[in-house]
Amino acid sequence: MSTSEGAWLSLEEKSAGGRNNMFAIGLECRECKEHYPKKVLNACQLCFGPVDVIYDYDKISSAISRTKIEKRKPTLWRYIELLPIDDTDKIVDIGAGFTPLLKADKLAKELGLKEVYLKNDAVNPSYSFKDRPASVAVTKALEFGMPAVGCASTGNLAGALAAHAAKAGLPCFVFVPEGLEITKITQTLAYGAIIVAVKGTYDQVNRLATELAVTSNIGFANINIRPYYVEGSKTLAFEVCEQLGWNPPDHVIVPMASGALLHSIGRGFQEFERVGLIKENHVKISGAQPNGCSPIIQALLNKTDEIIPVEHPNTICKSLAIGDPADGYYAIQTMKNTGGTGRASTDEETLGAIELLAKTEGIFTEPAGGVVVATLKKLAEEGEIDRDEKIVLYITGNGLKTQETIAEKLIKPPTIEPSFEAFKKLLDELKPAGVIWRRNSA
Ligand SMILES: Cc1ncc(COP(=O)(O)O)c(C=O)c1O
Ligand SMILES: [Zn+2]
Repeated sequence: MSTSEGAWLSLEEKSAGGRNNMFAIGLECRECKEHYPKKVLNACQLCFGPVDVIYDYDKISSAISRTKIEKRKPTLWRYIELLPIDDTDKIVDIGAGFTPLLKADKLAKELGLKEVYLKNDAVNPSYSFKDRPASVAVTKALEFGMPAVGCASTGNLAGALAAHAAKAGLPCFVFVPEGLEITKITQTLAYGAIIVAVKGTYDQVNRLATELAVTSNIGFANINIRPYYVEGSKTLAFEVCEQLGWNPPDHVIVPMASGALLHSIGRGFQEFERVGLIKENHVKISGAQPNGCSPIIQALLNKTDEIIPVEHPNTICKSLAIGDPADGYYAIQTMKNTGGTGRASTDEETLGAIELLAKTEGIFTEPAGGVVVATLKKLAEEGEIDRDEKIVLYITGNGLKTQETIAEKLIKPPTIEPSFEAFKKLLDELKPAGVIWRRNSA
């Protein structure tokens, strides 16, 4: 099956042929460094540590160049050499990645900062950053010849995986905690996935999905093919460097649930330096979580590596409600080793931040993005952030998917009679600044 039509190659490269992409050489345990071949495996068989894809970086350095990448299509697949796909014919592409990096001058001014950018990943095909790891996971499932895909999700992966599975023609099984935002469920159903709401927290959902993953040949994106899946998120670091003229920013702020995204972004900056696409990597990586579920931030601020799971997450930020974060420890190491930090925000602060972002920059985010903006605000107010830094905020999900969380806080639209008089009366009440009427018809 070929789903890759035009996914990544420039015209020049296409005419030169070449379907194999043999740069990923195997898997390595993050803890004991044991090596494994590229297979379906998510934990080390010796120490149960997580396993990561490893690459032949020297080979990549000589194969890749800025000019070569710049000529490729604007999707995450332009970084193909640093993605764990062997057969590029299998690529499942619905246009994920290469989202806008926007300079946020009004927001920066409001917070007393100089240079703030928004990486607007809310405009991906299914409206969250999860399209990146999902497209890699579904492609890998095709490579492994798996008959179906699945996932445990806090909402966004559900839609992303279902969309890519639809394109690949694979059945998709999605497990979510009950009580998710209605749009996320509707969207997933529209793509034709089988979505099951489980009475319990995300951690309980994840345990059930893990049991299904080990007892079937279904490719569970964030379970049995997780090492490949997380690689998609690295492209959020690659793109930011490319969009800043092949320079890394000084500081980034990343929302955290399992901590995988933050850890992957850290890996992305390191890899770009390793293969010579950027000169030096000194990016500080900071994390953001909602107060009602902030196990990683609590451990970071308490200066401990021991994460105490949150048994009953309680926040409007459902996409970040993972009480027992699988990559929490590694996210803490990434924040500490890069000189970053982190903060948690209350639901009220998150809602305020969603409005602030929408009203200053015209970007409507879901609560995960609100948590990031709230964290920047806090760090700026506390003087914890250097005002001259070049800062990038990762806006990872779209506000249209979680409208009910903010709707109540906003002023209801007024209804008027269909007459000029009625509208004029309304304007007299609202008194919009600077509006002048050329003709007084009253
Ligand atoms: C919009 C959004 N941002 C950020 C995250 C955090 O991802 P991770 O679990 O990799 O930390 C999620 C997780 O679902 C999400 O949906
Ligand atoms: Zn190991």
